[in-house]
Amino acid sequence: MSKRVRKAIIPAAGLGTRFLPATKSQPKEMLPIVDKPTLQYIIEEAIQSGIEEILIVTGRSKKSIEDHFDRSVELELELEQKGKTEMLEMVQDISKMADIYYIRQKEPRGLGHAISCARSFIGNEPFAVLLGDDIVDSETPCLRQLMDAYEEYKTSILGVQKVAKEDTNKYGILDVKHIEGRVYKVRDMVEKPDIDKSPSNIAILGRYIIMPKIFDILENQAPGKGGEIQLTDALKTLATQEAIYAYDFKGKRYDVGDKLGFLQATVDFALKRDDLKDEFEEFLKKKGAELIDKDKSLALVK
Ligand code: G1P
Repeated sequence: MSKRVRKAIIPAAGLGTRFLPATKSQPKEMLPIVDKPTLQYIIEEAIQSGIEEILIVTGRSKKSIEDHFDRSVELELELEQKGKTEMLEMVQDISKMADIYYIRQKEPRGLGHAISCARSFIGNEPFAVLLGDDIVDSETPCLRQLMDAYEEYKTSILGVQKVAKEDTNKYGILDVKHIEGRVYKVRDMVEKPDIDKSPSNIAILGRYIIMPKIFDILENQAPGKGGEIQLTDALKTLATQEAIYAYDFKGKRYDVGDKLGFLQATVDFALKRDDLKDEFEEFLKKKGAELIDKDKSLALVK
C-alpha cells in the first residue's frame, strides 16, 4: 500500500536580499502580511491540509522563527493579567500548531540542497514542500488539493499555474501532456528558462509532493542555474525514472517574495479582515479617487 503524505519541509534559509534593509537581521519569512508572518500562513496551510510534522530548514538568523512558534511565557502572563483573553488564546494557538522541527542549512547552496538536508527527517516516505514566497488564498488549501491528487496518482505532484509568458524566466517551467481536468503528466522541465526558449507557460509555484527517491538524485546533483543545486534539475531526472504529475491548483497565488506581490497580498488580506475592512476600504476609495483626479489633471496639461 502506498504511504500517506505526513511530513512537510519548509525551506526558510534564503538571504532575502530583495527585502533589505528589513531582512538584514530578521528572516524574510517573518515579514508580516497585515499582522501575521508569511511563514505562519504557510504553516497554517500545511496543518489545514493534514500535515502532522514540519521541518523548517533555516539559515543564519533562525532565532526569531523558533521564538515565534514557541511559547512566550512572559507575554502570556502579561495578556492574562490584563484580561486580554482573545489575544492570549491566539498567542497560545501559535505554539500549539503542529510538531515543528528545525535544521540549519549551513551554506546557501540552493533549494535542492536545502531539501537534501531533510533526508533523515523524511526517511522513506512521500513528503510535501512549501515555499514561503508563494502564498495561496483558496477555499481548499493549496497543499490539500495536491494531496488529493497524490491519493489518486500515488506519485510526485507539482503545484502549478499558468503565468504570463514574459514571467516564465522566473520559475521552474514544465513541458506537459494534459491528462484530465486540472491534471497534467510532466514530460520535461527547466529552471528559469530564457523567455523565448520556454517550453510552456506552466510554472511550478511553490508547492510539491515528492517521492523519497529524489534524495538519491539530489546527492549527486551538480549545480545548475545561478550555480545552485536546483530542485527542478533533480525532479527532471526523477521524471525519467518514474511518473511525475502536475496539478493546476485553484486559488489566488501571491508572490510575496516580490515587493509588488507583497503589497498586493497586504491589501487583499486586509480587505478580508472584519476588524479592518470598512475603514481600509474607505481609505482605498479616497486614494483611488485622488489617483484618478491626478490622471485627469495630467491629461489636461498634455
Ligand atoms: C523556486 C524554484 C522554482 C519555482 C519557484 C516558485 O525559485 O526554484 O522552480 O518556480 O521557486 O516560487 P526561487 O523563486 O526560489 O528562485
